[in-house]
Amino acid sequence: MLSLVSSVAVILLALPLTSAAPDQSILVSETFLSTLRSPRPFHAQLSPHRNRTCIAASHDDAQTDDAEYILQAIRDCDNGGHVIFAEKLEYIIASPLNLTGLSAIDLDIQGRVSFPADLAYWQKNSFDLVFQNAISFFILGGKDVNVYGGGELDGNGQSWWEAYAKNKTVKRPILFAIDGIASGSVSNIRLYNSPMWHNFIANSTDVVYSNLDIFSTSNNEYFEKNTDGWDIYRSNNIVIENSTITNGDDCVSFKPNSTSILVQNLRCNGTHGISVGSLGQYPERVDYVEDILVRNISMFNSSEGARIKVWPDAYSEKSASLTGGGGRGLVRNVTYDGMFLDNVDYGLTITQCYGQDDEEECFKHPSKLNITDITFRNIRGRSNRVFSPIVGHLVCSSPDTCSGILAEDVDIRTINGSNLVTCRNLNRDNLDLNCTDWSKGYNPA
Ligand SMILES: *[C@@H]1O[C@H](CO)[C@@H](O)[C@H](O)[C@H]1NC(C)=O
Ligand SMILES: *[C@@H]1O[C@H](CO)[C@@H](O)[C@H](O)[C@H]1NC(C)=O
Ligand SMILES: *[C@@H]1O[C@H](CO)[C@@H](O)[C@H](O)[C@H]1NC(C)=O
Ligand SMILES: *[C@@H]1O[C@H](CO)[C@@H](O)[C@H](O)[C@H]1NC(C)=O
Ligand SMILES: *[C@@H]1O[C@H](CO)[C@@H](O)[C@H](O)[C@H]1NC(C)=O
Ligand SMILES: *[C@@H]1O[C@H](CO)[C@@H](O)[C@H](O)[C@H]1NC(C)=O
Ligand SMILES: *[C@@H]1O[C@H](CO)[C@@H](O)[C@H](O)[C@H]1NC(C)=O
Ligand SMILES: *[C@@H]1O[C@H](CO)[C@@H](O)[C@H](O)[C@H]1NC(C)=O
Ligand SMILES: *[C@@H]1O[C@H](CO)[C@@H](O)[C@H](O)[C@H]1NC(C)=O
Ligand SMILES: *[C@@H]1O[C@H](CO)[C@@H](O)[C@H](O)[C@H]1NC(C)=O
Ligand SMILES: *[C@@H]1O[C@H](CO)[C@@H](O)[C@H](O)[C@H]1NC(C)=O
Ligand SMILES: *[C@@H]1O[C@H](CO)[C@@H](O)[C@H](O)[C@H]1NC(C)=O
Repeated sequence: MLSLVSSVAVILLALPLTSAAPDQSILVSETFLSTLRSPRPFHAQLSPHRNRTCIAASHDDAQTDDAEYILQAIRDCDNGGHVIFAEKLEYIIASPLNLTGLSAIDLDIQGRVSFPADLAYWQKNSFDLVFQNAISFFILGGKDVNVYGGGELDGNGQSWWEAYAKNKTVKRPILFAIDGIASGSVSNIRLYNSPMWHNFIANSTDVVYSNLDIFSTSNNEYFEKNTDGWDIYRSNNIVIENSTITNGDDCVSFKPNSTSILVQNLRCNGTHGISVGSLGQYPERVDYVEDILVRNISMFNSSEGARIKVWPDAYSEKSASLTGGGGRGLVRNVTYDGMFLDNVDYGLTITQCYGQDDEEECFKHPSKLNITDITFRNIRGRSNRVFSPIVGHLVCSSPDTCSGILAEDVDIRTINGSNLVTCRNLNRDNLDLNCTDWSKGYNPA
C-alpha cells in the first residue's frame, strides 16, 4: 500500500487487472490524483470544488462486467468527490446501474464505456422508464452532478436496431438517461451507437448539455430507428448547446412537460428535426410544452426542420407500436429563431393530426391540445424533392385550436425554387409565407 500523503481525504484506487474484490483498494495521494483530473468545464465550476478523487477500476478485458467497480467508485466519491474513468481503460457495463440520489459529484469519463448487446439480458434487467416503452442501462440523478472528460459511451446499437426491425416489441435501452438531476451538466463526451434515444432528461431542473458528439448510423439495411438525440420529459430549465448529432430520429424532442428550455448552436445531420411532441397521445393525460427557444441550428439531410406534432381527439393507429390520441394540454411560447436547412423534406411543420393521415377525418376531431404563440423566424435553406413543390406543412385540426402562429423572414426553397407551404386552419395574416390549401400530407417518419 502506498501511504496517504494528503490528509484531506481518503482516496480509493482499486487496481485494474486484478481479481480483487471491488472494495479492495490502495491509497494514493490527492495531490497525485488531482493531476489526472480533467479540468472542470465552467458550468461545473459553479458548484463547490471537489475534495476527493476516486478512480474507477476496470477488468479491462473487453468482457467482464465492471458495474460493481463503477458503483464502488461512485459510492466512495459521492458527497464531494471526483470519479475518474481512466483514459486508457475500457469499462464494460453489463448490469443495470442505479446512480440516483447522488450529491455533489463529478463523473470524469476519460475512457471508453461500452454496454454489451446482450438483448435477452437487458430486456429483463433494465430500468423501466414507463414513458413510451423507454428502458435504460443506467439512471443518473441527484443534486449537483457533472459529467465530462472527453471519453465515450458505446451503446452497441447495431444488433438492437436489427432486432427491433424484426420484432417491434423488443424494448431497447436509452444510452444516457437522467432521472431527477437538480443542477448539473453533461459535456465533452461522445455518445454513439445508441440502441434507442441517446439522452433522456426526466424529472430534472437546471441541467446544461454542451459539446456532445452524438453519432449513430446503421451499417446495414436495418435502420437506426428512434435514435433521438435528446428527449426532455417533466423537466424545467434545461440548456442543450454546442453539439453535433448524426442519427435516425429527432435531433431534440420536447416531450410532455418540458418547460423553459434553450437549444442552440447545434449541427444536426440525418435527423427528424427539432420537434415538439408528439403530445396528446394518452387520453387521460394533460401535456404542457412551454417557453422553448431554439436558435442557431444547422439541419442537414433531415426529414424535418422545425416541427410541432400533436394527436387529434380521436384514437388513431400510426403504426402497430404507435397508437393514441385524445390527450389534452397546451403548446405555448415556442420560438425557432435561426435555422439553416439543407436537404430537408419539410422545413416547417405543425400538425394536429399526428397518427391520422386523412386530414378531413382529423378535422372532425379537433385536438384537445392547443397550440399558441409559436414563432418561426429567420429560417432559410433548401428542401429536397420528397414533398416538392411544398416546403412546409402547417395543419391545425380546427381554427379554434391554434392561435398566434407567426412566420417571418422565412426563405425555404425546393431545388426548383418553389416556396409553397400548406396552411390549413390557421390565420394567415401573420404568416409571411406562400400559403396554399394544397396538402401533400404529413411525413410518415
Ligand atoms: C468535501 O465536499 C463536500 C461537499 O461539498 C463537503 O460536504 C465536505 O465537507 C468536504 N470535505 C472536506 C474534507 O473538505
Ligand atoms: C434507485 O435507488 C434509489 C435509492 O438510491 C431508490 O430510491 C430507487 O427506488 C431506485 N430506483 C430503481 C428504479 O431501482
Ligand atoms: C419521475 O418522477 C415521477 C414522480 O416522482 C416518478 O413516478 C417517475 O418514475 C420518475 N421518472 C420518470 C422517468 O418519469
Ligand atoms: C418479440 O420480442 C418479444 C420481447 O422480447 C418476445 O417476447 C417475442 O417472443 C418476440 N417475438 C418473436 C416472433 O420473436
Ligand atoms: C457554447 O458556445 C457559445 C458560443 O461559442 C459559448 O459562448 C458558450 O460558452 C458555450 N457553452 C458552453 C457550455 O461551453
Ligand atoms: C404535466 O403537468 C400538468 C400540469 O402541472 C400535470 O397535470 C400533469 O400531470 C403533468 N404530466 C406529467 C406526465 O407529469
Ligand atoms: C451558431 O452555431 C455554430 C455551431 O453550429 C457556431 O459555430 C456559431 O458560433 C454559432 N453562432 C452564434 C451567433 O452563436
Ligand atoms: C451525415 O449523415 C450521413 C448519413 O448517415 C453520414 O454518412 C455522414 O457521415 C454524416 N455527416 C457527418 C458530418 O457526420
Ligand atoms: C417565452 O419563452 C422564452 C424562452 O424560455 C422566455 O424567455 C420568455 O420569457 C417567454 N415569454 C412568455 C411571454 O412567457
Ligand atoms: C448529408 O448526407 C450526405 C449523403 O449521406 C453526406 O455526404 C453529407 O456529408 C451530409 N451532410 C452533412 C453536413 O453531414
Ligand atoms: C383550447 O382552446 C379551446 C378553444 O379556444 C378552449 O376552449 C380551451 O380552453 C383551450 N384549452 C387550453 C388547455 O388552453
Ligand atoms: C408562390 O408559389 C408559386 C408556385 O410555386 C409561385 O408561382 C409564386 O411566385 C410564389 N409566390 C411568392 C410570393 O413567392
